[in-house]
Amino acid sequence: MFANLFNKDNKSTKEDLTLDPNRIPTHIAIIMDGNGRWAKKRGLPRVAGHKQGMETVKTITKVASDLGVKVLTLYAFSTENWKRPNDEVGFLMDLPVKFFNTFVPELIENNVRVNVMGYAERLPEKTKKAVDDAIEQTKNNTGMILNFALNYGSRAELTTAVQAIASEIEAGNLTSNEITEDTISQALMTNSVKPYNDPELLIRTSGEERISNFLLWQIAYSELVFTDVLWPDFSAADLKENISIFQQRDRRFGGLNKKDLSE
Ligand code: FPP
Repeated sequence: MFANLFNKDNKSTKEDLTLDPNRIPTHIAIIMDGNGRWAKKRGLPRVAGHKQGMETVKTITKVASDLGVKVLTLYAFSTENWKRPNDEVGFLMDLPVKFFNTFVPELIENNVRVNVMGYAERLPEKTKKAVDDAIEQTKNNTGMILNFALNYGSRAELTTAVQAIASEIEAGNLTSNEITEDTISQALMTNSVKPYNDPELLIRTSGEERISNFLLWQIAYSELVFTDVLWPDFSAADLKENISIFQQRDRRFGGLNKKDLSE
């Protein structure tokens, strides 16, 4: 299964990794962190890190799609990111415009469908338009879903879901004891990528080990991988290495695996 883990000096290198094609995570979510630090290390303004981060998005989208990932969810802007200086927020809001202006043909070529989750109301008109156009232009693609979390926050999402469920009760369409885990799951924004609502693997780059209000309900059983690599430096080999870590984990979902049951 991991035939190629070692090079001739008997040292493992991430370039050598062979992945089990039958255990590629269906849904990978990424907290793309470290753009600012990447820029600072080079004496560049923070936004240069975001620009390079956008190039990483292109690389990782292609690799994930080639590996057979079904959904790639990227945390591009959180409901808390509005607290950043105006010029940085403005730059981040321009990124989807730049990204889709240049990258939609390649997304189509790779059969990738764009999806966006988050509170669209607060986005500038040009950002909303770029996103809507990309969704429209890729809507017939049947391959990987590239799912951007844009002005997304998990607590806000859960609050909206509770409000929607309460409205159903007020309207007499539902009783409180009919609420199940599925009711809640279906009321969340990730229902737009069903049946792969929950990530199997969550990656955070840059060495920070926090969830930062991302997919709190959905990651209940996700494997978490934290890597020190800064997002603008994150490569195809890094993604493969993180998937290999996922493949070596023993996922039990609160139960026992077959080996433990037979002991
Ligand atoms: C966190 O790094 C990163 C963000 C808040 C923005 C993420 C956005 C991108 C990578 C580009 C997205 C591309 C598209 C197409 C929408 P940070 O700025 O917090 O880094 P730091 O912790 O080093 O300061």
